Amino acid sequence: MSLTLPWIGSRPAEPATPTFLDDVFAPVASETESTALRVSGSLPEALNGLYARIGPNPIKPQPSRYHWFIGDGMVHGLRLKAGRAEWYRSRYVGSNSAHKALGRPILPGPRAGMSDVVNTNVYAHAGRVWASVEAGALPVQLDARLEGIRHGTFDSPKKQPFTAHPHRDPRTGELHAICYDALKRHKVQYVRVSKEGEVSRVVDIPVQHGPMIHDCAITRSRVVVLDLPVTFSFKRLFTRSPFPYAWNDRHQARVGLLPRDGEAKDMRWFDVDPCFVFHPCNAFDLPDGGVVMDVVAHRRMFDRSRQGPELDTGARFERWTMPAGGGRVVRELLHDVPQEFPRFDERLAGEPYRYAYAVGFKPGLPGGQALYRHDLQTRQTSRHDFGADAVPGEFVFVPRQAQGAEDDGWLVGLVHNRQTGTAELHVINADDFTGPPQAVVHIPARVPAGFHGNWIADADLR
Ligand SMILES: [Fe+2]
Repeated sequence: MSLTLPWIGSRPAEPATPTFLDDVFAPVASETESTALRVSGSLPEALNGLYARIGPNPIKPQPSRYHWFIGDGMVHGLRLKAGRAEWYRSRYVGSNSAHKALGRPILPGPRAGMSDVVNTNVYAHAGRVWASVEAGALPVQLDARLEGIRHGTFDSPKKQPFTAHPHRDPRTGELHAICYDALKRHKVQYVRVSKEGEVSRVVDIPVQHGPMIHDCAITRSRVVVLDLPVTFSFKRLFTRSPFPYAWNDRHQARVGLLPRDGEAKDMRWFDVDPCFVFHPCNAFDLPDGGVVMDVVAHRRMFDRSRQGPELDTGARFERWTMPAGGGRVVRELLHDVPQEFPRFDERLAGEPYRYAYAVGFKPGLPGGQALYRHDLQTRQTSRHDFGADAVPGEFVFVPRQAQGAEDDGWLVGLVHNRQTGTAELHVINADDFTGPPQAVVHIPARVPAGFHGNWIADADLR
């Protein structure tokens, strides 16, 4: 989620106290590394790999100009092996501006879009580690110790804009993504990447106003496109906002279904009540040809704040159905409590599924306060609490074994502790969700609230 823009016009009036440089968002002063990691409980011996999570960590933020989505990217990683926590490291993700500020040579590889800052997601694909962002910048390849290697969209020779949120089809190993370039307001693109890292298909999809499309979902047969009313804003641009996207009442909110091998003319569009979705959970085809997609829906977004997403948008978990017969999206409330960062067992991407996990928030307050498990079969929600001073971030589901049941696994994520100013990696048994954690790794460093993290097993890397 990153854009940096040249300043146009005169300096704006000083805004209110910045929210996204304080409290749980306050950046750390430097990269750190530790091998002295105390573990409470018992780390599963089968967790061999790297947990990595990324977020903004601005090097020289100017409070009057800072928007959370533009901060220099920093990735935090924990290496686990045979029941031990070997190391924790934090490393800046190599934008030109970060490397210049740190006195390092710039990373090789092409650049595209308005900025090369990458700060939103980190994951494995084609045997390597990648960090990525939306709006036009290209991904950055990292090594297994989180050092930057190069910029570039996997093995594509083209400057292909990508996204923070590609979705891997577990049946083929391909990535599917909806991507856009902030400078090209009349189209977004469906991009497919082979399991080897080649960009194998690009479909241009005409749109109006330059919508911000943060994420998408896949089913067995289709890709679900969210065209919602946060769009490129010349008004914000000309009033010197570093983040030129805003709520747009004139933009028709709609959801598109693109057949995986189809063209834009083959899409079916469904109008939906105005709202904004950063993150779908899973989606799947219905036997009658309709599509179901679960989402965290915000009433409005980027309407009032120029510093980051508003924290009082009534985010709630909903099931959206795009009926086989066409028409409007049918919205059903699943859980009416503020939440974000929905995840599920990604072996079931594009398939019917039972369990969704999301971070719960208090309205208007920064930082998570609990983790929810939604049982979509019984429609019951369970809550995992971390304690009064704990601020959990996104948790990812890691299966215990390849053929195990949907809840036969662990939930892994970082928890910031407001009292100690340090962080912890929590490993929770998904099938004992409300019980004590299986293990907690104590990190002798602060990890600011950030965006997305993933488990990268040794087997995922070449
Ligand atoms: Fe995201």
